Amino acid sequence: MRLTRYFLPVLKENPAEAQIVSHRLMLRAGMMKQATSGIYSWLPLGFKVLRKLENIVHEEQMRAGHHPMLMPTLQSADLWRESGRYDDYGQEMLRITDRHGRDMLYGPTNEELITDIFRAHVASYKDLPLTLYHIQWKFRDEIRPRFGVMRGREFLMKDGYNFDLTKEDALHAYNRHLVSYLRTYERMGLQAIPMRADSGPIGGDDTHEFLVLAETGESEVFYDAEITELKFGDREIDYSDCAQCQAVLEEFTSRYARTDETHDAALFDAIPEDRRRVARGIEVGQIFYFGTKYSEPMGATVQGPDGKPVPVHMGSHGIGVSRLVGAIIEASHDERGIIWPEGVTPFHVGIVNLKVGDAEADAASEELYAALTAKGLEPLYDDTDERAGGKFATMDLIGLPWRITVGPRGLKNGVVELTSRRTGESEELSPDAAVDRLVQIYAPHMVRGL
Ligand SMILES: Nc1ncnc2c1ncn2[C@@H]1O[C@H](COP(=O)(O)OP(=O)(O)O)[C@@H](O)[C@H]1O
Ligand SMILES: [Mg+2]
Repeated sequence: MRLTRYFLPVLKENPAEAQIVSHRLMLRAGMMKQATSGIYSWLPLGFKVLRKLENIVHEEQMRAGHHPMLMPTLQSADLWRESGRYDDYGQEMLRITDRHGRDMLYGPTNEELITDIFRAHVASYKDLPLTLYHIQWKFRDEIRPRFGVMRGREFLMKDGYNFDLTKEDALHAYNRHLVSYLRTYERMGLQAIPMRADSGPIGGDDTHEFLVLAETGESEVFYDAEITELKFGDREIDYSDCAQCQAVLEEFTSRYARTDETHDAALFDAIPEDRRRVARGIEVGQIFYFGTKYSEPMGATVQGPDGKPVPVHMGSHGIGVSRLVGAIIEASHDERGIIWPEGVTPFHVGIVNLKVGDAEADAASEELYAALTAKGLEPLYDDTDERAGGKFATMDLIGLPWRITVGPRGLKNGVVELTSRRTGESEELSPDAAVDRLVQIYAPHMVRGL
């Protein structure tokens, strides 16, 4: 992409309405624009990040054996009457009446809809286990939408639903989700800690929330510092192996880590004092096992091995995809702007041509652009005639992890400059070597997509 052709409406001033850094930076970097309270348009740069996150989520869900699909945003109220949640859900649910006077709603979540699909098409235990998921916009009429995409009214969520014959199988599905979530967040450059949580309106016994530590987080969290040393890394995992998945769950949940809702002071105080941490966190996902809470009232049964109908055991599992854009920025920025982790950056590298109009600088920039593109990398080429300081400031603000600076002086010696956004360190090397270096850096982060 060439900056002269792009739509990147960066703001010079700090928008007054933004209280936290991610909200401020998303507006300043031209990633989004508020449409109305708690509802945002995603401008091209923000949309690219959102798509990257979606692709990572898809890859990791499919790797775990879960099937992507797409359910609508609008649902019929009748299904929610069957589960008993139509009245329970309260004012967060946006209720709509169509021209025929039928009660509809903008889905805040999809347990009812998926259970209806399941009961229509699955009749035998032989078709289990089954996990279906989608990434779709949700609407919750939050009383106090704030912090930009962090607590919106309309927001993008991955929600997945498992259907199993027994509680034991459903707990394996729970563990599979926990493992796949650990991988997902790490690929996004985040540490998200699974913490024992409260089940709220979804109901159920087992639930963990995944929290990214950040001062601006809405949840108060209590944890054993040892937990922050755990990494899933690139270890192999066989998702069909129950013992392996269970072992990961135990490894990542055996130390104390809870949100304020489930905090137990006595247990916490049993941890050695120097390891006790009280902090704040952003909830970026949650997994639930809730058994037959929906399958029983909605009649989602399968024929068991003995021929008798049994209600299926279910769970639901959510990732806050649009919230993650803000969470990543909260976890990774400095006073000059965003610092994207390599796995989610909207462009892989910025090319700054210091002297647009200089034949050599233009040619070298164009060649770099072509060479990077040929290697499957996406550069953002600043081919504007703005002065160097302004170009650097924009690149720093939008946070691309790498920048190549091309100028007549360097080119005389056959070099360009490769700069890390994170460390600020620069290195002079030939254009070919710069391309090779970037190919190496990004090799582990290339996403196949859906
Ligand atoms: N209002 C919101 N704005 C943005 N993301 C949200 C919002 N509500 C929930 N999410 C994201 O969706 C994920 C799954 O939702 P869920 O656990 O059902 O939400 P909650 O815990 O708020 O009831 C949450 O972990 C969070 O990351
Ligand atoms: Mg939650």
